[in-house]
Amino acid sequence: MTLSSPPVSSRLRVQALAFLQDMAADNRYALTQEQLQERMAAISEEIDQTGTYTHTTEELEFGVQWAWRASNRCIGRHMWRSLKVQDCRTTKDHAGVTEALAKHLDMAWQDGNIQSVITVFAPRIPGQSDQADVVRIANHQLLRYAGFEQEDGTVLGDPHSVEFTRRMLDLGWSPKSRSAYTPLPWSIWIQDEECAPFDHFAQHPEQFPEVDITHPDHPGIDALGLRWYAIPLISEMALVIGGITYPCAPFNGWYMGTEIAARNFCDPARYDMIEAIGLAMGLDTSSNRTLWKDQALIGINQAVLHSFDRAGFRIGDHHELGAQFERFCKIEDKAGRKLNGDWSWLTPPISGSLSPQFHREFDNTVEAHTNFFYQSSPAADAAVRREDSSLDDAPRTSDPFHLENQHETPRCPFGFDRIGKVLPFKRPAFLKGKASGH
Ligand code: ARG
Repeated sequence: MTLSSPPVSSRLRVQALAFLQDMAADNRYALTQEQLQERMAAISEEIDQTGTYTHTTEELEFGVQWAWRASNRCIGRHMWRSLKVQDCRTTKDHAGVTEALAKHLDMAWQDGNIQSVITVFAPRIPGQSDQADVVRIANHQLLRYAGFEQEDGTVLGDPHSVEFTRRMLDLGWSPKSRSAYTPLPWSIWIQDEECAPFDHFAQHPEQFPEVDITHPDHPGIDALGLRWYAIPLISEMALVIGGITYPCAPFNGWYMGTEIAARNFCDPARYDMIEAIGLAMGLDTSSNRTLWKDQALIGINQAVLHSFDRAGFRIGDHHELGAQFERFCKIEDKAGRKLNGDWSWLTPPISGSLSPQFHREFDNTVEAHTNFFYQSSPAADAAVRREDSSLDDAPRTSDPFHLENQHETPRCPFGFDRIGKVLPFKRPAFLKGKASGH
């Protein structure tokens, strides 16, 4: 199915223009009205000819940065101008992808002085969502611990990874050993085909920097044997720039301590360590009213920051990042540049009211033309393209941060604005070819 119908291409033009206007207003590019109109005319022409348009190197560089700035949930985006791009739009095969990802890790690592990097693979062509994606990555993050289901029903490792781990094992991944901290292999998809699990870190453990978690005053915490990896590198989200979707654009920043300490270690659905930490600190855990949980939470947060600092690995804390983000809000406000945000994500999971974000209100409207979005898995998208929707079991949501509610996707090839008309009525197979009677 090829849809070069007016709605798709005129939407694309509107989004391209909105993006160019944002770029023109950036003083690093400072496009004149004339340059903007010239570029827009060229884009329009290209859309007429091909149904899509190609970002210049500068547009890609600015686009990824602008998409970061528009990420309502991110507390670190005052640094949006520092994001570096690796342009892999022409990379087509598995070897090329793994090489690019290894290079990405090198660019990001810098001996612990972690830099923000994004690698951008091939875009989708608007109106052709029936075409296979050139490259996709199924991993949630490129560095992540496996979650092995045990016979007694418990999980060894990160419960967040259970489903992904099962799939990798089913496809032949055989880790040398299984621990609570076994790095997962990469699941790369080329042209809608799932490649065999690729255990990059088994060959290159030096690209999986980790920290043993210790506490300056609580040796009991050291004895828990907790550890975490240094580079958060999200690999499953879609990037959209000026209406063009890049379904594979893995990006990294560096951690804020609370992400690891409060959420990854203490969420009940994750490593669930709050009680073990409390006992390790010698706290009286018999009553909630002693606030032992709160003390344990602070203890593990101190330990994570202390351990990363000692290792010389970059990490932020919620006070520092909260103050920087507040300064950013004020600067943008003064300059008349709209900055949206998601209060529930910007406020840290510990000591909320100590952060400036707690005391602010944010407009959580999603900037559609240039942003990062959740998307359905490569498996679900490929299944829809094969018209094997039995494998497309991802639930439909109304989440405005989900790609299919903002842009056309394989599951919604007509574009989100017609989703309401498309979804409720699924024509039963036996009616196909007959006049519809509803
Ligand atoms: N919260 C996620 C984790 O704990 C990482 C999300 C991205 N974080 C970042 N600092 N860039 O793994």
